[in-house]
Amino acid sequence: MRLYHKASAVLACLGTALAFEPLVPGFIKNNHGESVAKLTEISSSRSAAVSLKEQTVLGASNSSSDVTVTLGTGIQLLETDSEQNSFFLNVTVGDESVPLLLDTGSPYLWVYASDCESDACENKTTLSLPSDDKTTSTFSLAYTSGTASGKIATEDVTVAGLTAEDFNIGYASTVPSIFENYPFSGVLGLPSDNSSSASLENVITALRQQGSISESTFSLILGNLTVETAGAGLLIIGQDLEELYSGDFYTVDVIQNSASYWKIQVDGLFVDDDAVKAKNASSKLSGNAILDSGTTGIILSLADAQYLHSYFDNSISDGNSFAILCNSTKEISFEIGGHNWTLTSSDYLGSAYSSESDYYGYCISNIQGLDVTSEKLWILGGLFLKKVYSRFDYGNQQVGLAERYYNINVVSESTTAAAAAQASTATQTTSTLQTITTSTKSSSSSSSSVSSSSSTNGNSTTSSTQAQNSAPSTQPFRYAFVLIPVIALILI
Ligand SMILES: *[C@@H]1O[C@H](CO)[C@@H](O)[C@H](O)[C@H]1NC(C)=O
Ligand SMILES: *[C@@H]1O[C@H](CO)[C@@H](O)[C@H](O)[C@H]1NC(C)=O
Ligand SMILES: *[C@@H]1O[C@H](CO)[C@@H](O)[C@H](O)[C@H]1NC(C)=O
Ligand SMILES: *[C@@H]1O[C@H](CO)[C@@H](O)[C@H](O)[C@H]1NC(C)=O
Ligand SMILES: *[C@@H]1O[C@H](CO)[C@@H](O)[C@H](O)[C@H]1NC(C)=O
Ligand SMILES: *[C@@H]1O[C@H](CO)[C@@H](O)[C@H](O)[C@H]1NC(C)=O
Ligand SMILES: *[C@@H]1O[C@H](CO)[C@@H](O)[C@H](O)[C@H]1NC(C)=O
Ligand SMILES: *[C@@H]1O[C@H](CO)[C@@H](O)[C@H](O)[C@H]1NC(C)=O
Ligand SMILES: *[C@@H]1O[C@H](CO)[C@@H](O)[C@H](O)[C@H]1NC(C)=O
Repeated sequence: MRLYHKASAVLACLGTALAFEPLVPGFIKNNHGESVAKLTEISSSRSAAVSLKEQTVLGASNSSSDVTVTLGTGIQLLETDSEQNSFFLNVTVGDESVPLLLDTGSPYLWVYASDCESDACENKTTLSLPSDDKTTSTFSLAYTSGTASGKIATEDVTVAGLTAEDFNIGYASTVPSIFENYPFSGVLGLPSDNSSSASLENVITALRQQGSISESTFSLILGNLTVETAGAGLLIIGQDLEELYSGDFYTVDVIQNSASYWKIQVDGLFVDDDAVKAKNASSKLSGNAILDSGTTGIILSLADAQYLHSYFDNSISDGNSFAILCNSTKEISFEIGGHNWTLTSSDYLGSAYSSESDYYGYCISNIQGLDVTSEKLWILGGLFLKKVYSRFDYGNQQVGLAERYYNINVVSESTTAAAAAQASTATQTTSTLQTITTSTKSSSSSSSSVSSSSSTNGNSTTSSTQAQNSAPSTQPFRYAFVLIPVIALILI
């Protein structure tokens, strides 16, 4: 539940927002001569016993399941940017289709307004206020590097073919410059708040109240679709597609919080079979985490990230960011809802350092340490969500996670009559035992590398950061988006 502090005519809600702040690990860009801290090696002789976990078999190492999904009402294809940092989708506001960032960490829906003069709005789709608008409310959502603010107006909003009528959305006439490099025109916030009294609402609750869906849920599949057209994931509203996951949902209650985060308890963190322990604690680590589709990687508290990386021999760190030897084969598991959700090295290893670098042989870790909130919440972003079928349930205030399938073929409703016929059976599960070459991503062959030229002084590092993507990209090397709590004001 969101807390509203009433102050005269001002409703202030403690909100949250995403800042798309690309972070470059400091040991690359550090040009102040700060030394690179080397983490203590905890054990160099840990047994290499391989415990093949169930989820590994179902996941990356067995890609023989071949599933077909047909797009239709309640099922929306997502898109992503060239570096898979963000996931966005086309949403129709009034008569116009606009690409919006899909963000389970943001408190509401807002779009770029036609009177926006911020750089981020340049060459993007912007929307005019409805001509009959009589609303006088305004909103202001502060990000770390700027504020999105403007008027609130009522308009019909259509997501995945489902229309929420007279929905309150924000029209931002000011947009922070951090949005500039991304191809969307606003944010589809899907917070956990189930209330309908908020002057800025969430689409799922509105659709449920208007009778368009029978269950107030949405589910996500991020990444790894095989599609005939470009596509990077699925948003599924008011239903579940059983053909996309195997086994049961492992459910966990949302821990109610004023920021309307999808906040859940993580029961354990493991590197292979070892419970990651704090140095001065006897019990395994455990933390509360938020599930956030708007954050790219995974963020742990600073101390927890250091403990985690100390389980990787010779890992290095500048404090917040870490690098791990690219030949790591360890697995990292998060125990949530009575199940281990496992990341393999191809998940948690990012760009490799080039052969000219002092850090040749190292790959950037996609898990970062930041004390984002005073509570030191962990953030399970795209890196985690890509590994699961996730279900966000407003009615029960729960999150459900299931083992996802990977080779998901998506066809559009109109493509072929045969495809449409197939789709009519929602429970149908196609599992042709077709052999598909597994594409295990080799970290060492990563197309993106970071070159770092070090000074001859062994203690300091003067470096330049440079993305060397084989794919044409003018963007700087991006590591992670980071979620920053802010105050959102709604004036009515
Ligand atoms: C998922 O997609 C990534 C990037 O496109 C690819 O490297 C990886 O092999 C895929 N994983 C699976 C299990 O298909
Ligand atoms: C993948 O799954 C299929 C069907 O369950 C099974 O026959 C095959 O042996 C599995 N392959 C691997 C590598 O586990
Ligand atoms: C979203 O809309 C744009 C512009 O109309 C279009 O090019 C793109 O294919 C659409 N994406 C999806 C996934 O439908
Ligand atoms: C917007 O488009 C114009 C014309 O194509 C181009 O000259 C300009 O650089 C673009 N601005 C941005 C910020 O991309
Ligand atoms: C998760 O993995 C750890 C380490 O292998 C194990 O100790 C723990 O029992 C597992 N938890 C579940 C729920 O399987
Ligand atoms: C470790 O000990 C220090 C000093 O007593 C304390 O501040 C810190 O919270 C402890 N950390 C953990 C994880 O228990
Ligand atoms: C991984 O690479 C490091 C440095 O290149 C090397 O010392 C180590 O033996 C390698 N480990 C394995 C398991 O190959
Ligand atoms: C959430 O909202 C829906 C629709 O108004 C309602 O049916 C449900 O009971 C609510 N659940 C909670 C936990 O408030
Ligand atoms: C590195 O730092 C140590 C301690 O600060 C100092 O004694 C040493 O001379 C330095 N080495 C170089 C190459 O600057």
